[in-house]
Amino acid sequence: MKLTTSALFAALAVASLFAATPGRAADKTFQVATDAAYAPFESLNDRQQAVGFDIDVLSAVAAKAGFKVKFINTPWEGIFATLSTGDRDIVASAVTITPERKQTMDFSDPYFEAKQLIAVGPGSKITKFADLKTRKIGVQTGTTGDEVVQKLVGKTNPNIKRFESTPLALKELLNGGVDAVVADNGVVVNFITNNKSEKLKVIDDSSFAKEYYGFAVKKGNKEMLQQINKGLAAIKADGSYDAIYKKYFGK
Ligand code: ARG
Repeated sequence: MKLTTSALFAALAVASLFAATPGRAADKTFQVATDAAYAPFESLNDRQQAVGFDIDVLSAVAAKAGFKVKFINTPWEGIFATLSTGDRDIVASAVTITPERKQTMDFSDPYFEAKQLIAVGPGSKITKFADLKTRKIGVQTGTTGDEVVQKLVGKTNPNIKRFESTPLALKELLNGGVDAVVADNGVVVNFITNNKSEKLKVIDDSSFAKEYYGFAVKKGNKEMLQQINKGLAAIKADGSYDAIYKKYFGK
């Protein structure tokens, strides 16, 4: 058989294309999207590396299951689209598993239980979720906090002030631009603890349902899911999940 130079080049080009495909089994480094403005789950340290509970959990999962992960700071808006385009293999970003999201992506087994909390200023008269009906409410765009608030006041209500990150919404509460912020408990508590002198108050409304965080993958990526779930089960069984939990949340 005669192999022409151009045929050889074509073969090499195809081979290098495969090698460059992210998340391929051969190199096993998976690209992980995380919106790293979400302490204590994900934030950037002073060397611009992603750190936090989600980072530790997924890194431990990967070590057990035998794959490598690279965390890439990725804006929350559009974060799920990076799975369908193939730019990222996993989203690890305190993502709540919801029926709507399950239609367009797949989720690992749950790894964290959460719920919404309301943050208000020190002198606020707000005591329950229903009190927010006529107030300016800060949320992070497209989060489950945004969803619950939409159910209360209507999706297009101008009183909903949407921010690209939860810390920005909380800063606006400090500035008096919104009367309350609705967001995940872990992040609200973290912010209030780190800004003690502001004396923000937190309201836990019984109407908020339990939420569960999962790692999201491209719909149909069964192999990736199996590996993540295998690793999750292993770190839950051997105590390393509990150690990570304790590091961030005590007890
Ligand atoms: N758990 C909420 C949701 O899934 C908020 C997650 C936001 N995560 C982040 N890293 N900004 O909608």
